[in-house]
Parts: sequence; C-alpha cells; structure tokens
Amino acid sequence: MNPLRVHVMTTAAQIEELKTLVESGKVLTDADALQTYGKDWTKQYTPAPSAIVFPKTTEQVQAIVRWANQHRIALVPSGGRTGLSAAAVAAHGEVVVSFDYMNRIVEFNEYDRTVVCQPGVVTKQLQLFAEEQGLYYPVDFASSGSSQIGGNIGTNAGGIKVIRYGMTRNWVAGLKVVTGSGELLELNRDLIKNATGYDLRQLFIGAEGTLGFVVEATMRLERAPKNLTAMVLGTPDFDSIMPVLHAFQGKLDLTAFEFFSDKCLDKILARGDVPAPFESRTPFYALLEFEALNEDVANGALATFEHCVEQGWVLDGVMSQSQQQLENLWKLREYISETISHFTPYKNDISVTVGQVPSFLRDIDDIVSANYPDFDVLWYGHIGDGNLHLNILKPEALGKEDFFARCAVVNKWVFEIVEKYNGSISAEHGVGMTKRDYLQYSRSEAEIACMKAIKAVFDPNGIMNPGKIFA
Ligand code: MLT
Ligand code: ZN
Repeated sequence: MNPLRVHVMTTAAQIEELKTLVESGKVLTDADALQTYGKDWTKQYTPAPSAIVFPKTTEQVQAIVRWANQHRIALVPSGGRTGLSAAAVAAHGEVVVSFDYMNRIVEFNEYDRTVVCQPGVVTKQLQLFAEEQGLYYPVDFASSGSSQIGGNIGTNAGGIKVIRYGMTRNWVAGLKVVTGSGELLELNRDLIKNATGYDLRQLFIGAEGTLGFVVEATMRLERAPKNLTAMVLGTPDFDSIMPVLHAFQGKLDLTAFEFFSDKCLDKILARGDVPAPFESRTPFYALLEFEALNEDVANGALATFEHCVEQGWVLDGVMSQSQQQLENLWKLREYISETISHFTPYKNDISVTVGQVPSFLRDIDDIVSANYPDFDVLWYGHIGDGNLHLNILKPEALGKEDFFARCAVVNKWVFEIVEKYNGSISAEHGVGMTKRDYLQYSRSEAEIACMKAIKAVFDPNGIMNPGKIFA
C-alpha cells in the first residue's frame, strides 16, 4: 500500500459525481458536517475531510468504493465516532463514509439465536432488541448508546464483560463486506462449523476499515443473565486486587472484574450525581459482578468477601441489593471515561497476561510518576482480562500541543515495558493514528509485513482508511 497514490483533496467535479451515486442530500460538504463527521472521541487531530457521504444500500457502498478507486480518493469509515485511537478521523482531505443511514436490524433467527444487522445499528439498539427476544448481546461498554456495530467490528471492541463473554469477535457469526476493490464478499455464511480454509471474516474484525467496509453483520445472542449482582471492594494497594480476583474466581463465575483508583473516584464524586460506594476511601477499588442465581451463590460471595477482609486484601465493601444499586455501582466505573474527557486525557490502553498485571503496573507507574510528577495520572480498567487504562490528564495551564508532546516522550518508555512483557500497546481501542507509530512494540517486522501484504490483496490502490494501523 502506498498512500502517496491516493489524492489528498477531491475536486468539485468529483464531489458532483459522488452525489449521483447516493440519494439526494446524502453528500455533505458544509463546515459543520465536516467538523462533526471528520472525527472520533480523540482530541489530537484536526478534522479536515473533503466530504461526508451517507450510503443507504450495499450497492451504494460498492459504487462509492469504485468511484474512490477510479479517482484514487481515500475513504474513511465512520460509525458512532466514539473511537479512542483516531481510526475514524479524516484529517487529510479524505471522504468520510458514514453508516448512519444503514442502521436497520434486518432479521432475527430464533433457532440460531442470531441477528442480522446493518453496520450503523447502535450497540444499545442491538442490546435492547436482544432483550425483547429474551436474549442478551453481551459486548458492553460505556459508549454503547452511540457506538455502532460496524465500528465495534472494526476495532474488535471489548469492554466490561470480556472476562466472561470475550470480545466482539466471539459474537460475529458472519459478515458481508465491500473490499477495497469494490467486491462484495459473504464471509462464513453465519455457520458455527465451517472448516473450508482461511476464515476471512476474522481478518475484517479489528481491521479498522483498512481492508474493506462491513455492510452487514450477523451477530450471535446469548442467554440473558439472571439477577446480576455487583460488589465494590476497597483495597489498600494495587497488589491486593489480584488475590481478590483469584479468590472470587475460585468461587464464582464472574461476569466482570474491573478496577479503578481513588483518583478516579474523586473525579466521579465531584460530578455530584453518583453516590459513594461506602463512607471510607481506599487507594484502589475492585468492581466485580456475578449472577446471584440462588442464595448459595450470594452467600459464597459474602464468605469470599469476609475471607478477603481477614487476609487484609479488602478494607471495605458493598454488595448491590437492587437493580438501582447495581446501576449506581456500575456508574462508578462506567462514567470515568466521559468524566475525565474534559481534562483532554492522554490515553493508553495496554494489556498483558493476567498473572503479570501487578509487576507490569508497578513498572509503568514508576516510570510515569518519575516523569510526570506534575500531572494527574489515573488508572482504571478491565483487570480481569489484563487490560489497563492509563490516563494522564492535561494540566489546565498547559497547551494541548505541549502536553501531547511531553506525553509522547514517556510513551516510548511505557511501550518498551509493554514489549518487555510481551503485551499489547492497544488492547481494545485499536491502533488508528494514535498508536500507529508504536505498532512495532507489539508486532514483529515479519507480522507487519504480512499485514501490509494482506492489505494489498483487499485494497490494491490503498484507498481504504489509509494511514491507519500503519503509515
Ligand atoms: C473504558 O474502559 O472505560 C473504555 O475503554 C474507555 C476508556 O478507556 O476511557
Ligand atoms: Zn476499556
């Protein structure tokens, strides 16, 4: 792939031609639209697309891709724009393809427990639809009210239930994609068993739209969980969280095991709309969730809690007794991202195998606190699956450019530690542009060469989201 072959700006005549490919009014070029659709939730880049196009059908997506090939115009896919790695940012005159109008649930298959979705279906919409069928779509995260299935597939989204249900990849039964050369591929045909060679479906999951665009996805549903119950436990230090995880996993099938630091709690309580879990404050908190299927399970959880207190791993704790309390406890964790977004955070989304988490966090925390003594450093994340979110908040007095430049310096050291632990520089947010220059810390040269070769197969002219994942 050579991005230099792709034009930076489209001409007025090309935009006029684009307009003929979709319904009237479905190409926007006004400043507001360019600003809105040219970006995701990241704040490092200035959006500068040439136009926004809203296809309504697969045929229209194919026509757009063919048009882009003909004129060598770069396309950027756009879903709910909740991404955190700038994978859906158009900063170089690209044309944004928004899936907002391909947002229908097409079909429900009762026996297969699958739902055929257009890419613009919002995650919450799928979750509610599943609920109406007495079932459950288990991939969940704070941005589920805006994020779209196509984007979730593009980043192989994870979230708060991965410990039990895995990532988005586990729930994709089949995909229809339009490749970078405009071809429509039907991948895996929604089958459970299909041993017919390469599973191309998996290549498109987590590809951030660099190989092609998802135009339809068949998603699997699951039995709905019963009587979900959460506990928030205050711990004296980070190291105590791991034996707590181990103790609870020995007794219960956890549906979630999250953590956050007291600094995160500070920010949440400052909002004024979320109650504190308990009166005392501790340096770290674990939030765990399980299905209290019967009294024995709930009693087992309480007995494990008492054991953790006796061991000194837990200083205080609370267990939800109602749906409202469950929701309030989850707000302590789920509201963190949105609450701190006002501080222009420098975000890291790193992972290692679960057993290595304590020493990994300690190594990184040492580097970060030594180099950012004047910055607010917040830790939270999905500790049960080894995924930590390290967020450094921008001091008000410091300019955005200076702040990100200072963060980039320490970034290198953080990623060297990730590499030493054989970890990932992006556990669930994707690579996009923010992590692109660090890919070599998690992928070997040979792997990156294979990835580029695969891209060339599906996107020979390099028009599909160029400059994302790799340069
Ligand atoms: C989360 O775990 O809250 C999300 O991944 C978003 C974030 O990291 O801020
Ligand atoms: Zn996360």
